[in-house]
Amino acid sequence: MHNKLANSHSPSKPYIARLVVPVRELHAGHRLEILNHLLQLGEEDRRLRFGTQTPDEVINHYVERLDFNRDAIFGVFDADLKLVGMAHLAYLPTINGQARSAEFGVSVLPEGRGQGLGTALLQRSAVHSRNSNIQTLYVHCLANNKAMMHLAQKAGMKVEYAYGDADAYLKLPPANPATIVEEAANEQWADFDYAIKENFKLAHQAWWWFLGKPALAR
Ligand SMILES: CC(C)(COP(=O)(O)OP(=O)(O)OC[C@H]1O[C@@H](n2cnc3c(N)ncnc32)[C@H](O)[C@@H]1OP(=O)(O)O)[C@@H](O)C(=O)NCCC(=O)NCCS
Repeated sequence: MHNKLANSHSPSKPYIARLVVPVRELHAGHRLEILNHLLQLGEEDRRLRFGTQTPDEVINHYVERLDFNRDAIFGVFDADLKLVGMAHLAYLPTINGQARSAEFGVSVLPEGRGQGLGTALLQRSAVHSRNSNIQTLYVHCLANNKAMMHLAQKAGMKVEYAYGDADAYLKLPPANPATIVEEAANEQWADFDYAIKENFKLAHQAWWWFLGKPALAR
């Protein structure tokens, strides 16, 4: 089976205009950004993300209950440090010594789509899973979710359809030195990218303080 994410032994290349997408691991201090991100998803996107109608209260509850010590949450920030894409890698409980598995859920705001962010979040989650001794990465979504199905199939996932739902699986080989280096390099690049964006933002704010904010940016 062609399995791009699982079989890559050298650092992979999710690109936006030839740049590696900087994916950061998020922590409890990002809860508000995560909440704002999810609340910005429209009704249909929420249905695609969570598999059902998802009102604001349910999103609030979901974000409150995110366990950053147990699961891994990843994010991509735009130039204004807005969380434009996020993925939740939830570790599933192991039963009777079965292989460890994790479920992947992802969302990218409409303005960030089609630029490789979803692919980069899936790539990072797959590498993190390998480095965390996860053997199966799993995505549950609606069968008519064309974009997610395309992402899953592009990553070499095996897809099974039943009653309007789809389950995609990716069998992951164990970690190796390349996967450890790949994840560390992406994390460092993401920290560096975030620091640069933060400095630009602060510099802009300082200029606006001196010169007055341009009318269009208000
Ligand atoms: C699924 C989602 C995360 C994809 O994010 P993204 O940043 O646009 O993903 P990428 O840019 O990496 O890749 C999207 C791919 O899907 C393809 N695609 C988009 N819409 C498509 C459609 N209707 N049919 C087929 N392919 C489609 C794009 O062409 C692109 O393919 P390519 O990389 O081969 O060119 C985003 O659409 C989203 O947030 N949807 C709502 C929430 C959701 O469905 N989550 C998944 C369930 S957990």
